[in-house]
Amino acid sequence: MTGPEHDTTTMPVRIAIFGSGAGSNARAIVTWSRTASNASPFTVDLIVSTSANAGIVSMAAEFGLPVLVLEKTLPPGEQTLRLLAAFNQYHIDLVALAGYLRRIEPEVINAVHGHVLNIHPSLLPKYGGRGMYGAAVHRAVLDSGDAESGATVHMVNAQYDEGHILAQERVTVQPQDTADDLAKRVLAAEHRLYPSALAAYIRTAVYRAASL
Ligand code: GRF
Repeated sequence: MTGPEHDTTTMPVRIAIFGSGAGSNARAIVTWSRTASNASPFTVDLIVSTSANAGIVSMAAEFGLPVLVLEKTLPPGEQTLRLLAAFNQYHIDLVALAGYLRRIEPEVINAVHGHVLNIHPSLLPKYGGRGMYGAAVHRAVLDSGDAESGATVHMVNAQYDEGHILAQERVTVQPQDTADDLAKRVLAAEHRLYPSALAAYIRTAVYRAASL
């Protein structure tokens, strides 16, 4: 993203998706970006995963996307170096986190000028922060008796789930819901929300700031 003159119809913003799990959000984002009627302002050009066995890695192979696997055994400094080299190689402008279970170093955030987004399976600021991932989020919502939950796309800063909220989609909690039922309903909302939130962020960011 180079400036207000950046035309995403001829020069789409290049995204790296980071994930450690099944990769269903990554699949939704890639599919959306490759659907002509969406006139996507971005392409997905790199997948980053913490494990070679994660579903997101096989998803990437299916779509012919390059993958960088950062094994746990790599020292953190080496992980950052490999990430920065891959960003360079694939000209990455923006990072979309989707179930990535590792901290993102400030150097990595700076390399994409702060354009790092995440999706969280609750209506932040509720049910975010330490320990709030996976089933724990949905159990906490059910225990609280809240009538609704949902998905949130937000900017990533040093305080993980506390970055600026970009978009939310609400879902109704049904009286008989288990954590698994709620997780499925929220995940379906994530798949609708994340691609369009990315597109909206990019369209706004690209035209707003000359410094991008
Ligand atoms: C999603 O629920 C997302 O909100 C959370 O991790 C999960 C990732 O699922 N941060 P998937 O790998 O995209 O299927």
